[in-house]
Amino acid sequence: CNVVVLLSGTGSNLQALIDSTGDGENPARIAAVIANRSDAYGLQRARQAGIATQVLEHADFADRDAFDQALMQAIDSFAPQLVVLAGFMRILTPAFVRHYHGRLLNIHPSLLPRHKGLHTHQRALQAGDAEHGCTVHFVTEELDGGPLVVQAVVPVQSQDTAASLAQRVHTQEHHVYPLAVRWFAEGRLRLGDSGPLLDGNPL
Ligand code: GRF
Repeated sequence: CNVVVLLSGTGSNLQALIDSTGDGENPARIAAVIANRSDAYGLQRARQAGIATQVLEHADFADRDAFDQALMQAIDSFAPQLVVLAGFMRILTPAFVRHYHGRLLNIHPSLLPRHKGLHTHQRALQAGDAEHGCTVHFVTEELDGGPLVVQAVVPVQSQDTAASLAQRVHTQEHHVYPLAVRWFAEGRLRLGDSGPLLDGNPL
C-alpha cells in the first residue's frame, strides 16, 4: 500500500510511521513526503530514510485552488492508495478533499469533536478538561470534522502546562497514527457509506 505523507514541520509523526513500516510485516510503504515549506525538518527525516521528497511552496501559487491542483498532481504521480496528513498546516480545498475521499487521514491533537482548530492543549487546560488526547480521522470538507478512526486518551494532571500536555499527547500520536495507517494498508480500515469500518464493523 503506497502512502504519501504531507507535512509542514518537525515530522515526528512521519518518523513514527517510518519506524513502523520497516519491519517487513507492515504492508504500508511511504512512497513520498511532500512539504509546503523547504525548511520542514520532516524532509530531512524522509531523506535519511531514503524516501522521495518534494517541496511545493504555497507562496509560489496564485491562490489556494492553484496550489491544491499542483499538490494533487504531485501526490498522484506517486500513485498512492493512502494520503496521510502529518502536521500539514494548510487548509485543503473541497476539490482536494473530494479527490481523496476515503483515502485521506489526519491526526489532530485533541479528543475530537472537542477542540477543533489550533492551540488545543492550552484550550483543554483552560476548559478544565480531565482528559485530553489525540484523534485519527478521515478528512472531509469540515475542518477537523471527519469521521473518527481511533483516539488515545491522556489524563490531564494538575501541574500540567500546555507544553507538558503536548509532549504526552505527541507520544500517543506516535502509537495511534502508525496503527491506523497499518489497518488501512492491511485492508482492515475503510470509509463506508455511513462511516468508518474496521474489519467490517462500524467504529
Ligand atoms: C501533531 O501535533 C499533529 O497532531 C498535528 O500536527 C502536529 C505534527 O507534529 N496535526 P509532528 O510534525 O508530527 O511532530
